[in-house]
Amino acid sequence: LLEAKDGIFTITAQQGTSEIFKGINTETYGYNGSYLGPVIKINEGQKVTFKTNNQLSEPTTFHWHGVDIPGEGDGGPHHLLQPGDTKNVKFTVKQGASTLWFHPHPVGATAEQVYKGLAGLIYVEDEHSKKLGLPSEYGVNDFPLVFQDRKFDDNKQLNFKAAMNEDGTIGDTLLINGTVNPKLTVGKEKVRLRLLNGSNARNYTFKLNTGDSFQQIATDGGFLNKPISMNELSLTPGERAEIIIDFSKYNKSTDISLMNEEDIKLMPFNIVDKKSETSSDSLKNLNNYVVTDEERKLPVSKKLELFGMGKMVTINNKQFDMNRIDFTQKQGETEIWEIYNKPDMMGGMTHPFHIHGTQFKILSIDGKEPPTNEYGWKDTVAIDAGETVRLAVKFNNKGIYMFHCHILEHEENGMMGQVKVE
Ligand code: C2O
Ligand code: CU
Ligand code: CU
Repeated sequence: LLEAKDGIFTITAQQGTSEIFKGINTETYGYNGSYLGPVIKINEGQKVTFKTNNQLSEPTTFHWHGVDIPGEGDGGPHHLLQPGDTKNVKFTVKQGASTLWFHPHPVGATAEQVYKGLAGLIYVEDEHSKKLGLPSEYGVNDFPLVFQDRKFDDNKQLNFKAAMNEDGTIGDTLLINGTVNPKLTVGKEKVRLRLLNGSNARNYTFKLNTGDSFQQIATDGGFLNKPISMNELSLTPGERAEIIIDFSKYNKSTDISLMNEEDIKLMPFNIVDKKSETSSDSLKNLNNYVVTDEERKLPVSKKLELFGMGKMVTINNKQFDMNRIDFTQKQGETEIWEIYNKPDMMGGMTHPFHIHGTQFKILSIDGKEPPTNEYGWKDTVAIDAGETVRLAVKFNNKGIYMFHCHILEHEENGMMGQVKVE
């Protein structure tokens, strides 16, 4: 956890080795370490400087996924740092409490660099969130959980190419926060889990082995208005959610685990008889997110069509071109983006659609209201084959921003475009 009163954070991309399997080292990348990165804690209203430093032997960028940041600091493909380069990114935090993340974005190497371990979390805190009485003791009753599937070769070396499938890398080994077979020790209290699907291409559907429900309290970009009771929760690559599990009703001998679909065990919980100081009882109103009537009445002004699988993936029949601006939009103006995921002869597939530099609102999915747990700020939305999703999109800053499928190998294969905000 990186906190800085003066708002100055040093973030170094570096290469090293990690002992993911006991006694065996494999080459990995990390921020300020050998795998993954620190959690950077920033506050609404704070003036922040990220001192970024590329200590890799290849170019990289530092992209702040979900952060409301001027285009020049966004860290998209245009902002390459050569080996040894440094860059200071300055901005004022203009968004509320949320769990965001950061990762590289160089054309042609994003997927592989993330795969090797370049990813970290950003926690935004605000005054309001401190009064909500949510579990908030880092590592005690408030845990980040980064889910990534990886493939290791016979010598237990992390291997990108071996994991490559038609639609991206799929691993047979699950890492949570860079750890194989982790367990989480929790007290008999409400515990907050901040989930990031940090996989390149795999989806997760989280549930409990007991079938019990849990509460979702936040989407990608902030709190839901109130906790939503869920039995299962799906996240596509890039998406986050915060959930609360109430362990007070269980005890030491309860067999309780976080599961994935098809009843795959992700992580068992180990319950101990203690409570932390910020232990909370009731969860009340968390936010006042609203989709306004004006937003609902706005006409569609941008249409996007996602199409394809494997290497042939396009947006509006085009593949990414660094030198082409696909759309323009005025700073501070809300526009309705309509995104259609066009099926192919095989039926098609879900694409997690992400826009840089903004948090948007989902207005509708196939003309209907989004599910209640998506009635909140989002920066990545799962669009199934055949679906049409309408988003209300506003950029608070100027600059050039990417929009793309967050299956990183699709992004790499050109399923990306650029919007210039002026
Ligand atoms: Cu997670 Cu282009 O972003
Ligand atoms: Cu992003
Ligand atoms: Cu895709």
